[in-house]
Amino acid sequence: MDISNVKVLSTGVYLPKAELSNFDLEKFVDTSDDWIKTRTGIQTRRIAKRSEATSDLAYKAGKMALDRAGIKPEDVDLIIVATITPDMFFPSTGCLVQNLLGAKNAVAMDINAACSGYIYSFVIASKFLATGSFKNALVIGAEKLSSIVDWEDRSTCVIFADGAGASVLVPSEGNSKLLAFDMGTDGSYGSDLFIPGGGSRNPASYETVSKKMHYIKMNGNKIFKIAVNKMRETFERSMKKAGIKVDDISLVIPHQANLRIIEALRSYLKLPKDKVYVNIERYGNTSAASIAIALHEAIEIGRIKRGDIVGFAAFGGGLTWGSAIIQY
Ligand code: ACO
Repeated sequence: MDISNVKVLSTGVYLPKAELSNFDLEKFVDTSDDWIKTRTGIQTRRIAKRSEATSDLAYKAGKMALDRAGIKPEDVDLIIVATITPDMFFPSTGCLVQNLLGAKNAVAMDINAACSGYIYSFVIASKFLATGSFKNALVIGAEKLSSIVDWEDRSTCVIFADGAGASVLVPSEGNSKLLAFDMGTDGSYGSDLFIPGGGSRNPASYETVSKKMHYIKMNGNKIFKIAVNKMRETFERSMKKAGIKVDDISLVIPHQANLRIIEALRSYLKLPKDKVYVNIERYGNTSAASIAIALHEAIEIGRIKRGDIVGFAAFGGGLTWGSAIIQY
């Protein structure tokens, strides 16, 4: 059993104002509200302004979390931004957020683990806190996925969206803990969910642009099946490590990829409906931001209270997966 005395001190969120509904999508891509709702559970999603980059979204969520924690930017020790839509190759989005916040004493970095990014970052930050290396950490999941979807590809553009969620983590002397976690990777499926162009393999050129190599390519059906299994297996491993049963859990926050994936996970784990947090109908799939946004919302509406046992489970490009069980 892995025990780290880490507490989620506060959370924050930023969701761009502009909504893009399924009905809006119907107007420019060959799809329907009925298909999207039935196959994914999504009804509407938020899309950032052209002038907004991922660091702007991350900054706003991070600022809210820090303000709520009563921590001044200059007192932040560690900033981790989980994202697959960095503003640019480098500096990292973490560095850009550090500057926007004025967190001049913080170490900042990015984690690229696609939709598992928030869990990966949460665990990494927890380990630094548990060893006493840092006294606080700002963990942010932020994405502007609208900047990397092909708006003519109906199999991806109806799913992905923009948003950011942030959490301030501190060492805990009370009941709040990271009870257990589990993470995994399988790089052999890398090309089932990826962006082929723009990196050192296929640097940006007229050819990569004309071949649409800078957009998300996804083998959705294959990913779907792997996602259900991996999320279930990782969550079961975390429960075992934490020494808890389904009945001990107050709420599971799964990555919001597809309502059918969430439902399959729920039924495998034999969880009642009210123990699984779902907001995909409003925000779509915001990749690394989704669990961070949902955690913030669940706390805000009183669905999570101090002492509650809360589970996270995610799956994403890489392939990556992960789960964590915390006592909030
Ligand atoms: N509107 C209408 N029809 C559509 C649309 C659309 N938006 N998209 C696909 N279709 C059609 C297909 O063309 C296909 O038609 P055909 O039977 O005539 O060939 C039919 O619908 C079925 O297509 P599938 O791809 O089999 O549909 P599926 O039920 O698998 O749903 C989806 C597609 C929603 C993408 C699903 O596979 C999924 O959610 N996959 C998992 C995605 C995921 O979890 N990714 C990981 C996280 S993301 C990250 O890490 C960045």
